[in-house]
Amino acid sequence: MTIIAIDGPAAAGKGTLARRLAAELGFDYLDTGLIYRAVGMNLRRGGTDPADEAAAEAAALALVPSDLAASDLRGDDAAQAASKVAAIPGVRAALLEFQRRFAHTPPGGKGAVLDGRDIGTVVCPDAEVKLFVTASLEKRAERRLKELQAAGRGGIQSAVLADMKERDDRDRNRSVAPLRPADGAIVLDTSDLDADQAFALALSSVRSGVPVL
Ligand code: DC
Repeated sequence: MTIIAIDGPAAAGKGTLARRLAAELGFDYLDTGLIYRAVGMNLRRGGTDPADEAAAEAAALALVPSDLAASDLRGDDAAQAASKVAAIPGVRAALLEFQRRFAHTPPGGKGAVLDGRDIGTVVCPDAEVKLFVTASLEKRAERRLKELQAAGRGGIQSAVLADMKERDDRDRNRSVAPLRPADGAIVLDTSDLDADQAFALALSSVRSGVPVL
């Protein structure tokens, strides 16, 4: 089984890249951020603070696959709630097994691409290929603003940037599984690359790591 681990901060382009790599190679794809978003929103919808440790751990243990299909998981509320529950060790522990099982026994049986913050460091330290996809804070905020505008939901540049910086800081400085490049990860800075250029570089990194692909 070939595992490709893709980590990096928000809006660096890792989701697009992970999805395209999976499609190109015929692998299954797991967006692990969606799992944390689902836990965070299950709490928030019930009026519970996502930073409530005991409630968050119980919500992670109670998560079912259909929760990942909720329609409110892509927004900034979900992102902030996810980042809060993700700092709680019991939540991360509860979600680890599901992610590892997916990586080692993906539905299609060929290989798996997982993206998140700790895939190369914690979830799959044995992954054949580890990519750390990053970009400057300003470029990432600019991309997020464009996405919001394209979806007809305006945003204020300074607010988007502040929100992203707050989430970055929390994800990088938490005590459990902080965001950082794994040992041996290939760092891909997409600040000055478009999606096609980033994909071409990522694919060649994958193929130099696993020549048979
Ligand atoms: O990738 P994303 O923006 O959907 O992730 C939302 C939040 O979930 C992110 O701010 C941190 C957390 N997360 C994590 O801690 N570990 C992961 N493997 C994936 C996401």
